[in-house]
Amino acid sequence: MSYELDEIGGDDLSFLRRKSRPEAPKGADPLRLVDLFAGSGGLTLGAMESCRTLGIGLEVRLAMELDEEVRGVYDLNFESLLKDNRADVRSRFDREPGQKLSAAELKTQQEVGKVDILVGGPPCQGHSDLNNHTRRRDKKNELYMVMIRAVEVLKPTYVLIENVQGVRRDHGEVLERATWWLSEKLRYSVEHRLVRMIDIGVPQKRVRHILVAARGRNVEEVLNFSPREPPRTLEWAIADLLEIAPRSPFDIAALLTPENQKRAKYLLENGKYDLPNRLRPPCHRDNPSHRYTAMYGRLKWEEPAHTITTGYGSPGQGRYLHPSKPRTLTPHEAARVQFFPDWFEFGENPSRRLLGHCIGNAVPPKLAFSVLVRLLHKRVASTMPQTPQGEAA
Ligand SMILES: C[S@@+](CC[C@H](N)C(=O)[O-])C[C@H]1O[C@@H](n2cnc3c(N)ncnc32)[C@H](O)[C@@H]1O
Repeated sequence: MSYELDEIGGDDLSFLRRKSRPEAPKGADPLRLVDLFAGSGGLTLGAMESCRTLGIGLEVRLAMELDEEVRGVYDLNFESLLKDNRADVRSRFDREPGQKLSAAELKTQQEVGKVDILVGGPPCQGHSDLNNHTRRRDKKNELYMVMIRAVEVLKPTYVLIENVQGVRRDHGEVLERATWWLSEKLRYSVEHRLVRMIDIGVPQKRVRHILVAARGRNVEEVLNFSPREPPRTLEWAIADLLEIAPRSPFDIAALLTPENQKRAKYLLENGKYDLPNRLRPPCHRDNPSHRYTAMYGRLKWEEPAHTITTGYGSPGQGRYLHPSKPRTLTPHEAARVQFFPDWFEFGENPSRRLLGHCIGNAVPPKLAFSVLVRLLHKRVASTMPQTPQGEAA
């Protein structure tokens, strides 16, 4: 038996275009997952797909998400076993690393039981390089340490924490404290670094900070992804959606203001990708202190997309204009670029706000897949029948 470890289910494009949810392996002994700050489940989906690719079952023990509507989208897609008290992570992990377990933490430990994989993407506004006002001084940065407290309480075998690049320059040195706790106090092997999404086959110029930790195995090599040449392009991800009949807001781009319609048409009619200064709003013109060139920009078919944020429906928030239509990306197109498959449920009639939150705040599922498939493959290989030469068959 051999494993195709680079692509979800052996073929990323088939994974993305699939209209029905693939059947999960039914093992007697599924792995057990906890996802904190779960959003709509980008990390859970990646973990689930890494298990499916390796033929392992996965059970979500606990998924916590503050926003009720977003939690509703998670629940449409994943069955999580604990139903109550799933909003604020602080309600289940209410003490600092090193302190005695609180009553809530003891209860959580008992309810959740054994945990194989803990994943989480604590809110990143506080560290974000895109956020000029609160950069690196935000109290939210302390939510990163909730992940470490959760490791202490739940003792998972594998840990994956995702964040923005700016976490490395946090004022409160949250990363240094987190890695110290994990390696020195909790005895995990720890590795962290920036990972370019293009290197793992995501058609997007997104760069994320990833921390991975494990008990009982070395994780030194796990985040070494070789540059993928050439990177996947926007065309790879969304060209087949060009003529799709729009049946719901999921396939309809946000309405543009008359000014933005003019801007979008100008770019298309003049074969340009960046808007000239004279067509930008006054506050964006000739301001060398701001790096606004990508704003009101048009995407290129032959390149990866720019980072998708919650603002992908607004040309003023980034390079989100479609390469060949006078509009921004549709939620469906943005979801594809974020590596959400067509079968993923966003609800009957989701608002644009909800779609923006679920899609723009997500971690591309390919990320958790790429990291966990490497960690879990060794586990599967070591339990497989051995050939006479001592190699896994
Ligand atoms: C970066 S997003 C996570 C994305 C998610 N990991 C994914 O892959 O789709 C952070 C999420 O944390 C949620 N959040 C913020 N504070 C929280 C808290 N105290 N408890 C639980 N969730 C929280 C936000 O609503 C947001 O959806």
